[in-house]
Amino acid sequence: MTTSMILEKVRVELGERSYDIEIGTGNIVTVGARMKALGLKGRAGIVTNDTVAPLYARAVTDSLTDAGFEPVLLVIPDGEEYKTLPWASHLFDRLLAMRFDRNCPLVALGGGVIGDITGFVAATYMRGIPFVQVPTTLLSQVDSSVGGKTGVNHPLGKNMLGAFYQPEFVCTDVATLGTLPEAEYLSGMAEVVKYGVIYDGEFFKWLEDNRTAILKKEPDAVARMIKRSCEIKALVVGQDERESGLRAILNYGHTVGHAVESLTNYTGYRHGEAVSIGMVVAARLAHKSGLCGREVEARVEALLAGLGLPVKMPALPPAGVLAAIAIDKKSEGGKVKFVLPTKIGEVVITKEWDESVLLEVLK
Ligand SMILES: NC(=O)c1ccc[n+]([C@@H]2O[C@H](COP(=O)([O-])OP(=O)(O)OC[C@H]3O[C@@H](n4cnc5c(N)ncnc54)[C@H](O)[C@@H]3O)[C@@H](O)[C@H]2O)c1
Repeated sequence: MTTSMILEKVRVELGERSYDIEIGTGNIVTVGARMKALGLKGRAGIVTNDTVAPLYARAVTDSLTDAGFEPVLLVIPDGEEYKTLPWASHLFDRLLAMRFDRNCPLVALGGGVIGDITGFVAATYMRGIPFVQVPTTLLSQVDSSVGGKTGVNHPLGKNMLGAFYQPEFVCTDVATLGTLPEAEYLSGMAEVVKYGVIYDGEFFKWLEDNRTAILKKEPDAVARMIKRSCEIKALVVGQDERESGLRAILNYGHTVGHAVESLTNYTGYRHGEAVSIGMVVAARLAHKSGLCGREVEARVEALLAGLGLPVKMPALPPAGVLAAIAIDKKSEGGKVKFVLPTKIGEVVITKEWDESVLLEVLK
């Protein structure tokens, strides 16, 4: 293993559940050695899908074999529609048939769908087995692989079944983004912009200044933005692992974003695209509510649009959007909490927003 492949390291501080995120280029081949160094051994299940397997399963399998593991590949179909209890159950069946015991680790190799279902299976199989994240989409590298939210969808709602369960280690290889479709990359960029708005005005400015390098996927720029995104998420999660307060700031843009996703039947927009629209709506709501100046809304919209993300509300009836927002699972005591910017780099979580102002903004 060469350490020169590792460009950056972020520690997620959660007491005895603390772990490292290693960000590098070509470092996917180090995952086995890193797992061994953490004391993991024996049989290991690599969970992936039929798109990612042909691209990266070989590198991970070889790395595990070289480090003395006995890897088994567990491939499920590609798609959000397979992040379900029946497919988790399919994985349980495979693990039980192979007599995986409580010490056998799982490796989640893929995007957020694979990370979420693998984490859920790891959290529940024999009351919890170790797992490692190898995220291969930008969204999973900056968001879903960090913080320990795992889960599957239910026919009555997304992410309704799950557990908070932290990985042993996250191996982020920026080079895997080379095969990622452009639209998926941009979708992940929405979450990167989110971190700037909610927590770090300087980072937001850096994103504005480095837009071209980011769009060209220059490795140093990409590694730097992934590192800062992970640091911010780690700081937030480190203070509020189970979302009893601060962690809710990570939902900036998601209230309206979820409504847009559900009203377009999860086919009209990728998650990040819907969040992009939601962030602009929330910034406008904040401005119209007197919480921030017009320039906040303008800069959020300009950066997202400059990255090629959608920023305009689709033609949906505003009353329908309001109704969809009201059933968001994050509503509390009947009134939805909005995350609204007060300036670039700072937000408030508030129930004090005016329905008529939101209706106006949604038009
Ligand atoms: N746990 C969390 O905290 C959290 C946070 C945000 C989102 N999520 C979840 O994450 C999921 C979305 O994740 P996503 O955006 O990564 O989607 P995804 O996992 O569906 O991946 C997107 C597409 O890219 C493909 N892919 C992955 N890596 C690739 C690569 N390197 N090259 C080529 N193709 C590749 C996948 O097979 C898929 O077709 C949702 O289920 C969402 O609920 C979880």
